[in-house]
Amino acid sequence: MSHFNEASTTDQVLEGVDLSGKRIVITGASSGLGEQSARAMSSKGASITMAARNPEKNEAAASRIRASVPGADLELRTLDLANLASIRSFAKDFLADHDHIDVLLNNAGVMVCPYGTTADGFEMQLGTNHIGHFLLTGLLAPALVATPGARVVALSSGAHGIADIDYDDPMFERRDYNPWDAYGQSKTANALFAVELDRRFRDKGVHAFSVHPGMIMTELARHMTPEVMAQMTQRVQDEGDKSATSSDAPAMTFKPVEAGAATQVWAATAPELEEHGGMYLGDCQLGIEGGDMRTRGVQSYALDAESAAKLWSASEGWVGQSFDL
Ligand SMILES: NC(=O)c1ccc[n+]([C@@H]2O[C@H](COP(=O)([O-])OP(=O)(O)OC[C@H]3O[C@@H](n4cnc5c(N)ncnc54)[C@H](OP(=O)(O)O)[C@@H]3O)[C@@H](O)[C@H]2O)c1
Repeated sequence: MSHFNEASTTDQVLEGVDLSGKRIVITGASSGLGEQSARAMSSKGASITMAARNPEKNEAAASRIRASVPGADLELRTLDLANLASIRSFAKDFLADHDHIDVLLNNAGVMVCPYGTTADGFEMQLGTNHIGHFLLTGLLAPALVATPGARVVALSSGAHGIADIDYDDPMFERRDYNPWDAYGQSKTANALFAVELDRRFRDKGVHAFSVHPGMIMTELARHMTPEVMAQMTQRVQDEGDKSATSSDAPAMTFKPVEAGAATQVWAATAPELEEHGGMYLGDCQLGIEGGDMRTRGVQSYALDAESAAKLWSASEGWVGQSFDL
C-alpha cells in the first residue's frame, strides 16, 4: 500500500508534500503526538489550528514548534472536549473565522484515568475521546464539506482490542468501573466513528480514517499507576493471548514521537488512501483484521458497519443534536 513502515517518521511521510494553503485543526496539540503532527505539517506550509484545553501548555508547545519551524502559521484556540459548551463555543468562534478545513485531526485523548465524569455527566474516557470529538466534528462538518478532499483522522489505539462498546452500560453506571475497559471502549468508538463518518460523508467528498500510532512515551501515561498496571497484568493472565498485551508475545517496542505521529500525518495527507475511507491504519499501512493489535491489527467489531451506525445514533442522543447535512 505504501512504502512506509513502523520506523517511518513524519518528515519521511511528508517528503515532497506541499501543504501550503491547507487549514489543519488538531485537538490535543499541546503535547505528544498532536504537537509533533502540528510541527511536521506546519513545516510543509500548512496553517495549523492548535486546539487544547490548557492555554499555557498550548502556548509552550507553539513556542517549541516556532523554534524548530521559523514562520510556522499557528493559531491557538482553547477547547475542552470534556465539556459540550466549550466545544460549541470553540466551533462557533472557529467558524466565524474560517469556512474551510482540509484536515480535522481528532488527536486529544485521556487514558486509564480514575473514574470521573465530564461536565455533562459522561464517563470521562468515552466522553472525552469519543463524544467530545463527535460533537466537534459534527459542528465543523460544514467547513469540511466545503473543502474538496477534506479528511477527518480519529486517533484510536491497539487498546481497542481490550473492549467493544457496551451498549447496555456505556457509562459504567451499573458495572464496576475498570479503567482499561473504559479506555478500550472509547478507542473502539474512535474506530467505529471513522467507519460511519466516512459512510455518511464520502459522497460529499469527506473521508475519515482511524489510527493506531504505536506505543510512544508521552504524557498519556500520566494515570498509569502501579495499581492500573497490575490490573492489566492480571487481565493478561486471566484471558491469555486475546488482546494486544499478550504475555507470550514479543516484548513491546516503543516508537519515538517522530515515528509515532507518522501514521496520523500519513492518514491526513496520503493520496493513496483516497480509496480506503473508513479504514483503521497502523505503521503507515492499512489495518489487518484480526492481526497483531500492537501494530496494525484491528478487531472486526471496531469496523462493524451496524455497530458504527448504532454508535452514531447513540452519540446524537448524548449530544442532543444530529448531523445529517
Ligand atoms: N502514546 C501512545 O502510546 C498512544 C498509543 C495509542 C493511541 N494513542 C492516542 O494518541 C492520542 C494522543 O496521545 P499522546 O500520546 O500524544 O498523549 P498526550 O501527550 O497526553 O496528549 C494528549 C492530548 O490530549 C489533550 N486532552 C486530554 N483531555 C482533553 C480534553 N478534555 N480536552 C482537550 N484536550 C484534552 C491533552 O491535553 P492536556 O495535556 O492539557 O491534558 C494533550 O494535549 C490519544 O488519543 C491517545 O489515545 C497514543
